[in-house]
Amino acid sequence: MAFDNVLVVDFGAQYAQLIARRVREAHVYSEIVPRTMPLSEMLARKPAGIILSGGPASVHVPGAPSIDDALYDSGVPVLGICYGAQLIAQQLGGEVARTDVAEYGRTSLEVTGSSGLFAGLPSEQDVWMSHADSIVRAPTGFRVTARTGVVPIAALEDVERAVYAVQFHPEVAHTARGQEVLKHFLYDVCGCLPRWTMTSIVEQAVELIRSQVGDEKVICGLSGGVDSAVAAALVHKAVGDQLTCVFVDTGLMRAGESEQVEDTFRRQFKVDLVHVKAADRFLEALDGVDDPEQKRKAIGNTFIRVFEEVAADFEDARFLVQGTLYPDIIESGTKDAARIKSHHNVGGLPDDMQFELVEPLRNLFKDEVRAVGEELGLPEEIVWRQPFPGPGLAVRIVGTVTPERLEILRQADAIVIEEIKRAGVYAELWQSFAVLLAIRTVGVMGDERTYAYPVIVRAVVSDDAMTADWARLPHDLLECLSSRIIAEVPGVNRVALDITSKPPGTIEWE
Ligand code: XMP
Repeated sequence: MAFDNVLVVDFGAQYAQLIARRVREAHVYSEIVPRTMPLSEMLARKPAGIILSGGPASVHVPGAPSIDDALYDSGVPVLGICYGAQLIAQQLGGEVARTDVAEYGRTSLEVTGSSGLFAGLPSEQDVWMSHADSIVRAPTGFRVTARTGVVPIAALEDVERAVYAVQFHPEVAHTARGQEVLKHFLYDVCGCLPRWTMTSIVEQAVELIRSQVGDEKVICGLSGGVDSAVAAALVHKAVGDQLTCVFVDTGLMRAGESEQVEDTFRRQFKVDLVHVKAADRFLEALDGVDDPEQKRKAIGNTFIRVFEEVAADFEDARFLVQGTLYPDIIESGTKDAARIKSHHNVGGLPDDMQFELVEPLRNLFKDEVRAVGEELGLPEEIVWRQPFPGPGLAVRIVGTVTPERLEILRQADAIVIEEIKRAGVYAELWQSFAVLLAIRTVGVMGDERTYAYPVIVRAVVSDDAMTADWARLPHDLLECLSSRIIAEVPGVNRVALDITSKPPGTIEWE
């Protein structure tokens, strides 16, 4: 099935992603393109519409990001948002100025002219503003359709050329009716149909996988996380028995996780699953290692060795599934962040393996991946599971990793997860887990003096793990965690709460 495609031209990454997600929530496929992409290339994608995103620049600074103004006569409908709106005004002969009023935050918008974008909406509504420059004169041919108490030009349009511009941000949740404004643009101006639905996403992915793979064999590494699980389920739906899943059980998983993988893939989906029980090899590699980077290296190397051995049995497999997501694709190439920890994806593989990649999630945002997972019938526990680091519980055990200490942490962690779910806050948290320390402290239980490990409760809220805030968990939940962990987990006599944000802390302890 062919989908309408609405391009979002990126003038400042965080805005563009949110716009594309909102467009997709309106069931229209949307792709983000860099502003440096030549117009001819954008048009070659046959977009149903083009949205110019907001961004942090001012149109007045030398070298301010711009776009080929032939766009406005291309016949493709255009919507400019914030910076995008100012760019349209400036390029088409209007005027943008740094007035002495800036607008930040919730503002009341007054619709002053009839506009398809505001059809059916009240003439006054709350919108979210974030700008220092303002459009002070509309270009010839444009009509002003909305104002605020601060700026006389908050929305403008040239219906002839189908060029629309809004100073406010329809994509943010604070703009209460913003999604309706976007829908008017998508459906009424661009003529898009709402066909980007879960069912059609799955159908399209299945078709693409089939045409890529033909009748060749495919292998897929499962990690227990949502991405590899959804990727595997999609590929299985597409090519059934041609798929073999490999689950390298490092022994560093959370309680019940490897059973869940077995249950779901072997029993429910009837996937050919190779469950490699390699806990001993990982423990051996970790023996005596207490430096965090050394741990990661030991785990990464062991993983590669184990996977290579298993893969040798699948000489005839030509394809390898990877759960790469759309944000990875958008960000790769532009990402230049300092390496704070050497990330290792268990489930990821050596670069020199001679497989062709199948990446069925490469067009999807995380929330779409979850929705596809639900559509395919994966269990809620997998679909909604919080992220888990590739090196597993090993980076949540400060100091050396031994079977005894792993067991202590696994039990404590299971209690943390169980109680957080019971309190109904699991879905609000980016991650929540237990950490085991290497020190011991004195306590008293019954009449006995104890000398045992403390467990740290770590819970954070975040959008993308780049920054995070410690979660304000309810006190009765904390009380319950403390008393249950100490009562039920032998070897623990103290529970503490981590109240460090990121930065300066990281989410994991190692
Ligand atoms: P930090 O601890 O750096 O973690 O704030 C940010 C996010 O990344 C996860 N994480 C990892 N994920 N392999 C992974 O696949 C790794 O080696 C790894 N280390 C940290 C962490 O759980 C958090 O979500």
